[in-house]
Amino acid sequence: MTAAEDVVELDGVAVKRGGHRLWSEGTFALPAGACVAVIGPNGSGKTTLFELLLGLVAPSEGSVRVLGDRPRRGNRRIGYVPQNYTASVGEAVRCRDLVALGISGTRWGMRPLSANDRGRVDAALEDAGVAEFANRRVSRLSGGQQQRVAIAQALVDDPDLLLLDEPLSSLDVASQSDVVSLIEDVSARGDVTIMVVSHDVNPLLPVLTGAVYLLDGHPHYDEIGAVVNSELLTHLYGTPVRVVRTAQGDLFTRGGGG
Ligand SMILES: Nc1ncnc2c1ncn2[C@@H]1O[C@H](COP(=O)(O)OP(=O)(O)O)[C@@H](O)[C@H]1O
Ligand SMILES: [Mg+2]
Repeated sequence: MTAAEDVVELDGVAVKRGGHRLWSEGTFALPAGACVAVIGPNGSGKTTLFELLLGLVAPSEGSVRVLGDRPRRGNRRIGYVPQNYTASVGEAVRCRDLVALGISGTRWGMRPLSANDRGRVDAALEDAGVAEFANRRVSRLSGGQQQRVAIAQALVDDPDLLLLDEPLSSLDVASQSDVVSLIEDVSARGDVTIMVVSHDVNPLLPVLTGAVYLLDGHPHYDEIGAVVNSELLTHLYGTPVRVVRTAQGDLFTRGGGG
């Protein structure tokens, strides 16, 4: 992959869910090395965007390219932490075993790990700052620690694209900043493109290079300086836009001026 390559490219994409169109006219490209928030109200289709990139949902219109290819299931170049992932992890699962699933390639059948693979698991735990919990049960850790272990799993196979779905939800402020600093570390390595679904974009602002925002049934992408700018949003939608936080945590509210 060349440095100039776009990691994610959507061209005229629409998606349907449960028979009705969820969003449409998705046309944007994310450059390699970007760290991009995915923001929008509940149910606007943020998780569905990830599922599209993972080949789990097909577009009803348009074309999608991920890392230069069509989306396909089981793409090992993509690391993925689903929304609420650690809540679904069995009570007795140890941290190192959860991370190892990122190598064994399936969540349901683990083959024995080679010594080399065990080394990679240790390194991923270390990189995510959770090496000390390697033999502890995931269920015994704090929410922020659990999210770090989940991110270690997503990174253990050395992906080119990392998809994190709501990694900050239901974390207290200290745990959020713990997870954000891990995202910052990963981004600083420069060889992974990162997309993060988040209701609250503010804790991520130091690390974000851009944002995809789902508004009125269409995904838009822009650089972060342009997104967090009420003048540009006002211009874009032809109506006064204020950048505020709603009770739901959504960043953008249209209308009202000022
Ligand atoms: N497997 C599915 N089948 C039918 N509808 C679905 C499915 N998954 C999600 N949806 C619907 O698609 C919409 C968008 O869901 P989602 O992408 O999860 O939104 P978000 O992540 O922004 O909250 C919601 O209305 C949801 O109910
Ligand atoms: Mg979601």
